[in-house]
Amino acid sequence: MLLLRAMAGRRLPPLMQLPRGCSRLAAGSTAPEGHRGAAPAPEGHRGAAPGRHRGSIPVLAALLGLGTVLAYGERRRRTAEAAQAPRAPRYPRYTRAEVAQHRTPSERVWVTYGTDVFDVTEFVELHPGGPDKILLAAGGALEPFWALYAVHSQAHVLELLRDYKVGELSPDEASPPPGDTGDPFAGDPPRHPALRVNSLKPFNAEPPPELLTQSFLTPNELFFTRNHLPVPAVEPGSYRLRVEGPGGRALSLSLAELRQRFPKHEVTATLQCAGNRRSEMSRVRPVKGLAWDIGAISTARWGGARLRDVLLAAGVRDSTGDSTGDDSEWHVCFEGLDADASGTPYGASIPLKRALSAEAEVLLAYEMNGTELPRDHGFPVRVVVPGVVGARSVKWLRSVAVSPAESPSHWQQKDYKGFCPSVDWDSVDFGAAPAIQELPVQSAITEPRPGAAVAAGELTVKGYAWSGGGREVVRVDVSLDGGRTWREAELGPRPERGRGWAWALWELRAPVPAGARLDIVCKAVDRSYNVQPDSVAPIWNLRGVLSNAWHRVSVTVTR
Ligand code: MTE
Repeated sequence: MLLLRAMAGRRLPPLMQLPRGCSRLAAGSTAPEGHRGAAPAPEGHRGAAPGRHRGSIPVLAALLGLGTVLAYGERRRRTAEAAQAPRAPRYPRYTRAEVAQHRTPSERVWVTYGTDVFDVTEFVELHPGGPDKILLAAGGALEPFWALYAVHSQAHVLELLRDYKVGELSPDEASPPPGDTGDPFAGDPPRHPALRVNSLKPFNAEPPPELLTQSFLTPNELFFTRNHLPVPAVEPGSYRLRVEGPGGRALSLSLAELRQRFPKHEVTATLQCAGNRRSEMSRVRPVKGLAWDIGAISTARWGGARLRDVLLAAGVRDSTGDSTGDDSEWHVCFEGLDADASGTPYGASIPLKRALSAEAEVLLAYEMNGTELPRDHGFPVRVVVPGVVGARSVKWLRSVAVSPAESPSHWQQKDYKGFCPSVDWDSVDFGAAPAIQELPVQSAITEPRPGAAVAAGELTVKGYAWSGGGREVVRVDVSLDGGRTWREAELGPRPERGRGWAWALWELRAPVPAGARLDIVCKAVDRSYNVQPDSVAPIWNLRGVLSNAWHRVSVTVTR
């Protein structure tokens, strides 16, 4: 009882925690001891869950309170008895592929923990973090989610889960399948199953919107990943970074030297891919590129050496590039260790002025949210250019070179540029447009999700807002009627003025009447009073970049 009371006072966890003041155990398992969820389903019914959970929600609701507590005690007694039972129950065996077929309440919701298989369909609506969160794990393993949300790592949660057991994984399914050695992507790291994969090889994935604004700093496992090539395997002991100044002076730095010779600097910065929200553009007219939803954006606290300090150590002077006598800008070109079949590495550049500016805080980062960089995000060293399109933050950094010209890389010259909506693949001239650097003001709604049925009463709308160049967001306007009337959202923690490198998370609470249809819209305003355009068509471009129109989500309100 105390345990239940203690649990009732706890903050709502995001995934698979015992509901406040209620227990699924109160639903009253009627199956005989030793067969609780264990009866092997007859052939042809292996996909269907046992009927014992069906209709348990109304029963459960009726038994809330004292009944719950009594049932909990009763269950403990039965669990103790079961522990002394002579024969362990036998369960049907399933492959991971079979488990993966159970992802929605209509096909039953199955998850695994260790080698056990559970049917948690009846728990979905009871999940205190919301049904949407637990459904993220549907058809797969719980461990990666529980690792992120530590509140689940408690004995009572595991005990609760045990009651939903319907099977076990086949013995040959217990460990992950061996890698395919002929595949250039076979050495890629494992990824979190919650990520929405836009392409597997190369790996490109975004966190689901429901998790994106769950915390100000995006957990490393959920940070969006944009890879053009296989992830290089770097041996940190032999890693060297080549830094070339003008006039042939060069430095070669080991990881230890980068860490020890230069003071560590930390910056909280949001990275956003130029293709974020591309899928909205392709609804206007097809575009070339990955169909990113609203999650090609994430925020981390980055730690590393300032690029400025490293360039100065390589003999670059603050005045480099000033004496050319013309207006031409100098650049700093970066190359990654990831290369295509011809050996051409990923590359990009930024203006030297930005690289040398102490205020711009450009980093050669070796830490992300307090840990070493994960492999997908550039281990052991990457560039982080705050306020600038993610494409310039080169990962797995192998070289830095000061140059009078921009990077010759395809990704600097022939990609990540914006064009007039009338430009097509026959008329496009990539040489005529500047490479994207600072991104325009952006915002999106992460909750509720499009098409959702929300409850009448108070609705909470959540989202993120960000702008390039350190221009912090000063306001987010939200409309519930498609843009006719507006309210101001409440902004979360604000950055220091002039250091608006990180997004602002925002929230709006508003009463909503039963039966209404809401066209929710958001638009952000940055420090320069830049505001998002109202529609996609006028900013459409053939690569689907810079997609920052008002974000719209339609929902209905239940009666
Ligand atoms: N650096 C290398 N070496 N290779 C890449 O494919 N992708 C770029 C950039 N740096 C890329 C890279 C792009 S387009 C983006 S948006 C960011 O990395 C994404 O960084 P993330 O995967 O850590 O989110």
